Amino acid sequence: MNKLLVSLVLSLGVAGSAHALEGDAEAGQGKVAVCGACHGPDGNSLVPNFPKLAGQGERYLFKQLVDIKEGARVVPEMTGMLDPLSEQDLADIAAYYSGNDASVGVADPALVERGEALYRGGNLELGLPACTGCHSPTGQGIDTAGYPHLAGQHAQYTAKQLTDFRENNRTNDGDARIMQTIASRLSNRDIEAVSDYIQGLR
Ligand code: HEC
Ligand code: HEC
Repeated sequence: MNKLLVSLVLSLGVAGSAHALEGDAEAGQGKVAVCGACHGPDGNSLVPNFPKLAGQGERYLFKQLVDIKEGARVVPEMTGMLDPLSEQDLADIAAYYSGNDASVGVADPALVERGEALYRGGNLELGLPACTGCHSPTGQGIDTAGYPHLAGQHAQYTAKQLTDFRENNRTNDGDARIMQTIASRLSNRDIEAVSDYIQGLR
């Protein structure tokens, strides 16, 4: 790992402010009717460009919801949808989805080897850290640090996020720009392989 990324990793732990709101999963369940059309009734979306939300970290989900609502992350499909929701509503929704079990997917055997090598080992030459360091070996993430759960996520969605981070179309990864930095070192082939590997990860 090169110096830049080491310092990013070290500084990230203290970045981002914790929120004091306590989410109520049961209340959240009553607020997601409109979301199910795209994300699936329990958050296990069946459509590859709509992300699975079930089993995602509560803290990460809450942050994304606030970012989407405020426009820091642009999701055209969700335009205006979060406007009527309060921060408490968003916390409740985050608690609901994070409590559901995530469904798993299948990886393309032709891509697994390259994807796994990248996910587990990074690439020393490119100064690319292993994904395991933050997203964990099983892809569960580390929610207390805001590192999202990735395991089982649709490859198409994951590849779009990595491309968006790389092209600066998704810029809500904090002042450390950790994912923008990482994605800037990934080729299209790397993105395809690691996204597919993640889809089958459990
Ligand atoms: C018309 C389809 C649609 C509807 C309805 C919808 N979303 Fe989304 N949502 C999307 C898409 C597409 C993305 C991913 C956009 C991208 O590629 O960055 C997304 C992303 C998200 C994310 C970020 C997930 C992640 O892993 O970072 C969250 C959280 C989310 N939606 C929650 C909701 C909630 C809560 C509702 C209901 C209030 C909702 N969405 C309604 C299409 C939809
Ligand atoms: C130093 C920690 C760190 C490392 C290493 C790291 N990530 Fe991340 N990743 C993050 C953080 C933090 C976020 C959430 C950014 C935000 O809040 O929007 C994230 C978000 C993501 C997302 C978006 C998830 C979603 O649901 O939209 C993907 C995909 C992702 N990372 C893939 C990877 C891959 C692939 C690697 C390895 C090549 C990697 N990450 C390495 C910290 C890291």
